[in-house]
Amino acid sequence: MYLCLLCILCSFHLLLSSFCPFPDKICDQISDAVLDAHLKQDPDAKVACETVCKTGMVLLCGEITSRANVDYQKVVRDTIKHIGYDNSDKGFDYKTCNVLVALEQQKEDMGAGDQGLMFGYATDETEECMPLTIVLAHKLNSKMAELRRNGTIPWLRPDSKTQVTVHYEQENGAVIPIRVHTVVISVQHDDFIGLEEQKKVLKETVIKAVVPAKYLDDKTIYHLQPSGRFVIGGPQGDAGVTGRKIIVDTYGGWGAHGGGAFSGKDFSKVDRSAAYAARWVAKSLVMAKLCRRVLVQVSYAIGVAHPLSISVFTYGSSQKSERELLHIVNKNFDLRPGVIVRELNLKRPIYQNTACYGHFGRSEFTWEVPKELTY
Ligand SMILES: *[C@@H]1O[C@H](CO)[C@@H](O)[C@H](O)[C@H]1NC(C)=O
Repeated sequence: MYLCLLCILCSFHLLLSSFCPFPDKICDQISDAVLDAHLKQDPDAKVACETVCKTGMVLLCGEITSRANVDYQKVVRDTIKHIGYDNSDKGFDYKTCNVLVALEQQKEDMGAGDQGLMFGYATDETEECMPLTIVLAHKLNSKMAELRRNGTIPWLRPDSKTQVTVHYEQENGAVIPIRVHTVVISVQHDDFIGLEEQKKVLKETVIKAVVPAKYLDDKTIYHLQPSGRFVIGGPQGDAGVTGRKIIVDTYGGWGAHGGGAFSGKDFSKVDRSAAYAARWVAKSLVMAKLCRRVLVQVSYAIGVAHPLSISVFTYGSSQKSERELLHIVNKNFDLRPGVIVRELNLKRPIYQNTACYGHFGRSEFTWEVPKELTY
């Protein structure tokens, strides 16, 4: 009901999303690199790995049950090198940082996971079925990384944050992006480059390559490098911890979030596998044109395989009732964790890639391939 009220009250929404890959996202990538290293050798490994980083150090802690023999020093250093921290001038160096390991082997498998609730969301506003706000915020970051890595913008450094505000209109419960209202970018840079030059390059080379021209106009507001110079970034600027960027990892503030983070957790944790499955259900419903926008919620209890509850909320964007849609979901999806793992093929070492640029809306992942529904 609350959402219906909202659409009566305002003829448009302003919504925003943000993405901050560093340093919390360094930690997410390291935790998922550790998970992948175990899964490569032992597809049944049970992993719960948290990472903390600060100037010159990385700490791994958690519990692991695995037959794999993992060289943690190498996994951590390779990940930091891949991200681009290879010199203490940049605030971090994979060669010299300290890697502390406090991971304990757990003898017994924890069994049926945990309790909790998870959400999946999908919307027909983009071809990825993701909110345009978060799609653009991720693309700005990935474009900057690409142009840094291939030498087009040599003064860029790895730490970056973006935020995009989009003006939307509503149509029968669906949302339609009208224009980009504001773009915010803060990115770490080399010492020698002037601020005006940076702003010009960010606008002309990064933003214009990412944001479709139809969304930009004279009134679009740009906040580029709004805090001035940003030479020292990464863990020297701010401490990083795994699992603190849950909104950037999911739907940029749209839909809802059950609170559980993903990185460093293997598929037996429903925080991760059921959130992926809920997205799979949501996207399948939108792609089947059964609704234009949908939020799917599932909940679980320890030791109980079937979800305690499944709910479907379409924001009024469906011709069908939510009861009918729920019936279709129940008929087409088996949301027991053991079945999800098999159907989405979650035992493979695919997770490090999920930890940067979002877990959803990327065609390389199984949970983004819509299921053919029968009803
Ligand atoms: C770097 O990537 C950009 C964007 O894809 C491309 O236009 C440019 O040609 C590339 N430059 C080099 C040197 O590969």
